[in-house]
Amino acid sequence: MTTTTMTHTEIEPNILYFGTPVVLIATCNEDGSPNLAPMSSAFWLGWRAVLGMGMRSKTVQNLRRTGECVLNLPSDALATHVDRLALTTGCNPVPEPRAKRGYRYEPDKFGISGLTPVASETVAPPRVAECPVALEASVTALHPLAADDPEQNGNVAIIEARVLRVHVHDDIRMAGTADRIDPDAWRPLIMSFQQLYGLGPRAHTSRLASIPEKLYRTPDIDRARIA
Ligand SMILES: Cc1cc2nc3c(=O)[nH]c(=O)nc-3n(C[C@H](O)[C@H](O)[C@H](O)COP(=O)(O)O)c2cc1C
Repeated sequence: MTTTTMTHTEIEPNILYFGTPVVLIATCNEDGSPNLAPMSSAFWLGWRAVLGMGMRSKTVQNLRRTGECVLNLPSDALATHVDRLALTTGCNPVPEPRAKRGYRYEPDKFGISGLTPVASETVAPPRVAECPVALEASVTALHPLAADDPEQNGNVAIIEARVLRVHVHDDIRMAGTADRIDPDAWRPLIMSFQQLYGLGPRAHTSRLASIPEKLYRTPDIDRARIA
């Protein structure tokens, strides 16, 4: 007979990356060329994204200068394309902490990933054609993580971005609706403890899903129409 142990063991993991969606964030370099970086410290509140990115990344440099990005969400089918972008940076020279981790400078992120840039409507950085979701966005706030600790202050930026346009592939739209995503069709790529995963099937019916989506609507959706 098997018994299930419900006791906890106290541990000190080096990272707490318990699983978040991968985002390919497109920004524009000084010369107008696109940069594309995988990241996964991302969550969504209304039509706002909250992102955590290393302050010395090319992406954060570009966001500070231009205030614009496209948040492209790859499906699990795009894992190999995403993996080709790992350990690359648009920074030249490669900053020392990244060089130590094995990063190399790569000016042509779209080329090496095999992904296709397409023009956005409201921002200069391109969308990724292959990603089922592409969110054009503008930066509304950027502040340091761990500002309470002089040793860590300035290492990581917390970025708030307001979504201006939502572009999706038709095959993830909910049948019979104009503006909804079918969560059974949308298969996000998930990063957990540096490994890449897809989602399993629906685990349970959800009481939360009894709340109509329109009750989550914020004024940002109307504001985005005039962007
Ligand atoms: C799957 C995946 C997830 C990542 N998540 C993050 C993240 O959430 N934040 C971050 O700063 N870097 C993350 N990275 C590392 C970035 O890609 C790295 O910071 C890179 O330098 C960004 O490129 P850039 O310097 O051209 O902006 C992730 C990398 C991969 C492959």
